[in-house]
Amino acid sequence: MNAPRTFAIKSFGCQMNVYDGERMAELLGAEGMTPAAAGADADVVVLNTCHIREKAAEKAYSEVGRLRREDGSRPVIALAGCVAQAEGAEAKRRSKAIDLVVGPQAYHRLPQLLREVEAGGRPVDTDLPPLDKFAALPRRRRAGVSAFLSVQEGCDKFCTYCVVPYTRGAEVSRPLADLLDEAQQLVDGGTRELTLLGQNVNAWADGRETLATLIRRLAALPGLERVRYTTSHPINMADDLIAAHAEVPQLMPYLHLPVQAGSDRILKAMNRHHTASDYLAVIAKVRAANPAIALSGDFIVGFPGETDEDFDATLNLVREIGYAAAFSFKYSARPGTPAATMDGQVPEAIKDERLQRLQALLAEQSRAFNHSKVGATTRILIDRVGRKPGQMIGKSPWLQSVFVETDAGIGDMVDVRMTEALPNSLGGVLCTA
Ligand code: SAH
Ligand code: SF4
Ligand code: F3S
Repeated sequence: MNAPRTFAIKSFGCQMNVYDGERMAELLGAEGMTPAAAGADADVVVLNTCHIREKAAEKAYSEVGRLRREDGSRPVIALAGCVAQAEGAEAKRRSKAIDLVVGPQAYHRLPQLLREVEAGGRPVDTDLPPLDKFAALPRRRRAGVSAFLSVQEGCDKFCTYCVVPYTRGAEVSRPLADLLDEAQQLVDGGTRELTLLGQNVNAWADGRETLATLIRRLAALPGLERVRYTTSHPINMADDLIAAHAEVPQLMPYLHLPVQAGSDRILKAMNRHHTASDYLAVIAKVRAANPAIALSGDFIVGFPGETDEDFDATLNLVREIGYAAAFSFKYSARPGTPAATMDGQVPEAIKDERLQRLQALLAEQSRAFNHSKVGATTRILIDRVGRKPGQMIGKSPWLQSVFVETDAGIGDMVDVRMTEALPNSLGGVLCTA
């Protein structure tokens, strides 16, 4: 067999997987491989999987099945990401087509594992050596005007429904110096906006440095216009981070702060370590620091034992906050997590009905948020070409896509007056000085 020359990486799940996928692409690129052209066959396919909700493993295996070519041959298939971590060697038993299994903390060894495949092996590497991979990865190249930077990985919170502490390991923070270095590489490559990633990003720490100090240091890099961070846990929403929202102009007025549910009984059963009023108090402080902040959250409906009253408490909390955006999910029992065996599992039909009601309310709120910006003038960071001639698309500080006619290019920042709210975006016109 000839050494594989082209690759394709398919990432599922959260932004951390998107980041990992980019780093794997850079790694394979440094080995002399090239990304397969769109639609073309790749010699190696990396499935960078997510394990968060139902049938995640089944979906990954059916994805593997779809990689068989018409002539019966198939590419070298690497199972990566959180399903790989959770399944380990079991993956090779369940699918003969999988050539190698590599977990989210071990993917820096991908080139070595591919050589083992060439030599006839079927390696599995699901070690969880915290942070080893970062030192072993190549330097960053161009990563787009808006780029992700993983600053913290893993989770020690053990919410009773969640697999992440098992697939990503314990909470670890990358050192400040490494992050400033990677950020500088990205800025040198044209990045104007950085989104700091972590399963609990606001738990990031390096000695006495906190996420707030990291943000301040990054904001001081010449050429870096914007900083964002996601995802935060309410119990790590420290006062210095809240103060940064008042004091650091580069820190965008947007906060994704999952609450999951509005009922204290359910929050306790979820092991969230906070009540609904703790959450409301954090939000009040954040809004006092920066009244323009847009809020986003994650919600789970139909957690075991959730009654109509509990669900109403979620709706009430949503009404009280007013979200600009949100993600909501039906509770999905994950094998091995404590909630999977709790009494009071909620029937699917009730989950469906609750999800619909919650999503209708959240959609209404995000529509209202977009409408509230019509007539306002703001700065957008252009990140895409629009469909119509002369049209470009940029992001507002509140993460809305804004369409505008301009000769400015990708990476430019322009002032626009927003003139109309569309279902998932805004239309605007250029402000002339
Ligand atoms: N703190 C994490 C959350 C990861 S999972 C982060 O940094 O992103 C993203 C969201 O998926 C969670 O906030 C939760 O709302 C949802 N989720 C996690 N496990 C789930 C499950 N078993 N069923 C349904 N939704 C779940
Ligand atoms: Fe999962 Fe909870 Fe950790 Fe988020 S904080 S990753 S929901 S265990
Ligand atoms: Fe999914 Fe793993 Fe992210 S389970 S949500 S890809 S941390």
